[in-house]
Amino acid sequence: MSKKILIIVLTISLVMMMAGCSLIESGPVSSFDMESESETESEEDLIVVGFSQVGAESDWRKANTESMLSTFTKEKGYELIYEDAQQKQQNQITAIRTFIQREVDYIVLAPVTEDGWDTVLSEAKEAQIPVIIVDRMVNVEDPELFECWVGSDFELEGRKVCEWIRAYLEYKEIPAEEVNIVDIQGTLGASSQIGRTRGLKDAVRANGWNLLEEAAGEYTQAKGREVTSRLLRKYDNINVVYCENDNEAFGAIEAIEASGRRVGSNISRGQIMVVSFDGVSDQAIEYARKGKISCIGECNPLHGPRVEKIIRDLEEGRTPDKYEYVDENVFSGDISITSINLDETVYTVTILGK
Ligand code: AHR
Repeated sequence: MSKKILIIVLTISLVMMMAGCSLIESGPVSSFDMESESETESEEDLIVVGFSQVGAESDWRKANTESMLSTFTKEKGYELIYEDAQQKQQNQITAIRTFIQREVDYIVLAPVTEDGWDTVLSEAKEAQIPVIIVDRMVNVEDPELFECWVGSDFELEGRKVCEWIRAYLEYKEIPAEEVNIVDIQGTLGASSQIGRTRGLKDAVRANGWNLLEEAAGEYTQAKGREVTSRLLRKYDNINVVYCENDNEAFGAIEAIEASGRRVGSNISRGQIMVVSFDGVSDQAIEYARKGKISCIGECNPLHGPRVEKIIRDLEEGRTPDKYEYVDENVFSGDISITSINLDETVYTVTILGK
């Protein structure tokens, strides 16, 4: 090939290559490009929610996390930044500060305990990020530091369970002075612990029961077992174990059975009555059916849709209620008590069939 022809061939190939290149650059947008472009657009439209969760200490908590994760999805228009604090308040404070730096649209906080939030929530307020509190409450000087709260009336839960115990004992004609209770408390300083403990203490006072000891069970099965074993060694007359959640109750039942005692409502025959809260897991419902747990005060974990409703309201300029309490049941496998009466309100006991 002559030098001239070679130059012509090279020039044509170069022109073709350039033409090819420019075709790609200015040609129709491929479906891939369209996707990524619309993705970028819709990513910008997503409402960004930073959620600081307590941890994964119980079945209730896992159900609560699942409710949040399945509600705040991209398909529904959200980007959820989920942080598990592993039961440590400091981790929650760090998570909130990260959310502020990332300029999220909303912060949702499920606080581990009530106290210690003023500073970090002031920072969120300064950054003009609305904060929604879920499940347990925060104890802050300025209630304007958070938009609103949604969760359970923990004290009412405690009062309902205690009223069930009172009605049951009366029905079985068991005198109050024969009732010896231990309280396996939840995470100390958490609203659920404070409310349920208060519910019990008031009932102990009103009914003349003996409260032998209160001990922290941290809402876990392992701690529930450990603490109950210790208490069973210390007191030989325990006949009611008030567990502040189902996971503690699972641990308490293991400890009672390992000690050679039997669980059940028949305390005049030497059984130890176990009561608890949540009613979320199949195991808890099964134990209540079988009478291993005599009564469960329901604690509803399905807050995802409730928090989403609050965010929708705020987005559309409506003001949500400052405090929203959810309705809850009482469960028992025992047919003796079908309803309980508190402050002139009758609560039906949901009897779980065998
Ligand atoms: O604050 C709600 C409580 O926290 C639930 O009853 C318990 O199971 C959880 O860990």
